[in-house]
Amino acid sequence: MDITMTDAWRALRAHAEHFADLELRSLFADDPDRVDRMTLSVGDLVVDWSKHRVTQAVLADLAALAETTGVADRASAMMRGDRVNTTENRAVLHTALRAPAGRVVEVDGEDVVAGVHRVLHQMAAFTDRVRDGDWVGATGLPIETVVNIGIGGSDLGPGMAYEALAAFRHPRIRCQFVSNVDGSDLAAAVADLDPATTMFVISSKTFTTQETLTNAKSARRWLVDRLGEDAIAKHFVAVSTNADEVAEFGIDIANMFGFWDWVGGRYSVDSAIGLPLMLAIGAEAFGEMLDGFRIVDEHFVSTPIEENVPALLGLIEVWYRTFCDLPTRAVLPYSRYLHRFPAYLQQLDMESNGKCVRIDGEPVTYETGPIVWGEPGTNGQHSFHQLLHQGTTVVPTDFILMGAPDHTDDQLSGVEAHHDLLVANCFAQSEALAFGKTAMEVAATETNPALVSHRTFPGNRPSTMIMAPRLTPSVLGQLVALYEHQVFTQGVVWGLNSFDQWGVELGKVLALAIVPELTSTDEPALDHDASTNALIRRYRALRP
Ligand code: F6P
Repeated sequence: MDITMTDAWRALRAHAEHFADLELRSLFADDPDRVDRMTLSVGDLVVDWSKHRVTQAVLADLAALAETTGVADRASAMMRGDRVNTTENRAVLHTALRAPAGRVVEVDGEDVVAGVHRVLHQMAAFTDRVRDGDWVGATGLPIETVVNIGIGGSDLGPGMAYEALAAFRHPRIRCQFVSNVDGSDLAAAVADLDPATTMFVISSKTFTTQETLTNAKSARRWLVDRLGEDAIAKHFVAVSTNADEVAEFGIDIANMFGFWDWVGGRYSVDSAIGLPLMLAIGAEAFGEMLDGFRIVDEHFVSTPIEENVPALLGLIEVWYRTFCDLPTRAVLPYSRYLHRFPAYLQQLDMESNGKCVRIDGEPVTYETGPIVWGEPGTNGQHSFHQLLHQGTTVVPTDFILMGAPDHTDDQLSGVEAHHDLLVANCFAQSEALAFGKTAMEVAATETNPALVSHRTFPGNRPSTMIMAPRLTPSVLGQLVALYEHQVFTQGVVWGLNSFDQWGVELGKVLALAIVPELTSTDEPALDHDASTNALIRRYRALRP
């Protein structure tokens, strides 16, 4: 189907011609019920989306677009195990990772939920042993540091969640996350570690990823040099779908935690890839996180579009990106512990929908996935918020905020006052972005007329405010699922396969070809482009 030929698409194009006239000031002035109508709850999340430049007519046509493209049907197909990832011929079942025991979801006649709970039990049993100090290293000492070696989805999800749930961590166990093939990453991580109390979790869905295997081999050398070959069994475990490669690497597959090809890397934080997180926060809290995911899953599949929070937010992003030509989207958590959340969302969103070819192989003729970026507030206020307020591009922004301090720094007296300030700043930013300050308002107090234009805020910059009482495991699960289903909604409307990532392949292949050209003792014959050839020669000259 060519979506651009539908009535809803044409109507939205027509609305977008008047985008400049959609003034938040007027939308609020003309509609006293706007905030009530445009504030929705899902689980513990309260989402105020009233500060978006959308009218009832725009929303109706976005809903029609969702209907025409079959968002609800596609969601059901995904969740029942259809092979919706057609370019890899795979089911997409991250929602089964948080299905309750007893629910049946079948792939090729096999119930996957039973397998999910088998692995969760295996993880929980292992986690309990490590946390209780019953699992000891080669010298008989309990594990104190868990070093996760993985990249992309095998790093960003558990790393983000470990930071987010700092308040729930076991007092003895800390985690480090090594992802980059830059040797400094691993070197810095192990610099102060005692090998006797260190455990490496090698996380890789494929167990063929160059960065992860390079780091894993160096970590193994580091450990064997200090504790000997026999120590591997007590200090290395793996998370993977590839038992053969895990065994080949030298990890006993009894110490491997499995998952399945129907879990995409960027959708895997709630699979065994979450093992370091479970080690840190315990199996019970991990289960609470899964419950949080499930609350939003159930909302997403059972709620009409008009009240379906992830679907609505996804559609509003389609409006901005495709029809209003706004290229980026900022995610600004007003929570230090969510400082890795924007990086996590970058992979979730940009690897899913950063595509210029539709699922049927035809090129898209419209803008798709936005550039996602962000930093926690209030830090960003003192750097890039200048552009958000007065720059020439409009950046739709998500604010994420907790009602209570999301930390246990109770020993810091006056911590509530910090939180009040944090909240005040967050609300002030969304208010300033939306309503700005007109030249007339500035002129009323500014004595120097030359400064009036400089001090004017155009406003009319849209944002969503997502609030929850506190950053608990359940709330984190709800937040992640909220974004997963937004990204899904957008992918369906844009006609994309949000579950493959062919765009990452070419660079990997080229890098493999370049490695021997950098390291060969003989001068290699180079047949890249002139620039790449010159870069290789320059590096060879610099190489120690
Ligand atoms: O290169 C991209 C990617 O395939 C991601 O999609 C994935 O999350 C990451 O690499 C890591 O892959 P693996 O878990 O197989 O090592």
